[in-house]
Amino acid sequence: MPEIMEFSHAPVLLDEVLDGLSLTAGATVVDGTVGLGGHAAAILDRTAPGGRLIGVDADREALSMAQRRLGNFGKRVTLIHGNFADLRELLQDREVGPVDGVLFDLGPSSYQLESPGRGFSFRLEGPLDMRMDRGTRKRAADLVNRLDGRRLEDLIRGYGEERWAGRISRAIVREREGGPIETTAELAALIARCVPRRGRARIHPATRTFMALRIATNDELEVLKKGICSAAAGLRAGGRLCVISFHSLEDRIVKNEFRRLSGKCCCPPDFPVCRCGATALLKVVTPKPITPTREEVAGNRRARSAKLRVAEVL
Ligand SMILES: C[S@@+](CC[C@H](N)C(=O)[O-])C[C@H]1O[C@@H](n2cnc3c(N)ncnc32)[C@H](O)[C@@H]1O
Repeated sequence: MPEIMEFSHAPVLLDEVLDGLSLTAGATVVDGTVGLGGHAAAILDRTAPGGRLIGVDADREALSMAQRRLGNFGKRVTLIHGNFADLRELLQDREVGPVDGVLFDLGPSSYQLESPGRGFSFRLEGPLDMRMDRGTRKRAADLVNRLDGRRLEDLIRGYGEERWAGRISRAIVREREGGPIETTAELAALIARCVPRRGRARIHPATRTFMALRIATNDELEVLKKGICSAAAGLRAGGRLCVISFHSLEDRIVKNEFRRLSGKCCCPPDFPVCRCGATALLKVVTPKPITPTREEVAGNRRARSAKLRVAEVL
């Protein structure tokens, strides 16, 4: 098990999250993506002496690191292995009543990104895995080696917003005729060979494809929608939900789900009747997302694309 310090990173938008959650001493807060426990430790400090933190994570390795980091808060902390899509049930099973705040800090942790064996990074050689929860079945390699070319192209274009999705998927299909593509390095090298040089901007050519595969492996967009509904159902009236997202597809889902749950219809304008199920459960606290200061981005690259949206239960 890696040392915590090796992987600890500064929690993104920390002050903004603490303000967004509108914390008071004694509050009960759920960190639905407890990760290495950075936000959680600050929440526990802010809600001392009596506040309680329930930390959920899909990754058992993250939970054991969170356990070590948060151990000194004793009984104030409960850690649960699970998916935040099931937050309401996870709380009900433990007879936790309506909570005061919920936080989701989306995406992989620095520990996951920097662990070659987890297969999240195109910079580190490892198996094409990318599962947040290693107990689930679908790995990125299953998508790469089993999806037909058309679905692979749609996935890379849809989730990665990759303009070279056609070329990349065709190259993958050709390559796997000679045997399955099993490692991050094999896939990254193949993508680098088929993306034209003039198409390469600031980012590595495999960045978008790897992001798309990670999103699909973990069903991240569906899970996010469910998680927001589940969190809204688990909060007390006046309780706050904070979501930090890192790319436009996620942010759009947060924005639209907040709108829908605040009673504003998100159906396309040509729909004769509302089909999105808009109901007034929430009030949007941040009409525009909160973004990090220049100082934060200078000190923490992971913060550069972060967007925080906050909603309050009615
Ligand atoms: C960016 S990290 C969180 C970092 C944390 N806020 C901190 O300060 O250390 C995201 C964490 O959420 C977990 N995660 C991602 N999707 C999840 C989901 N649907 N349910 C539960 N945990 C999830 C990942 O395993 C990862 O540990």
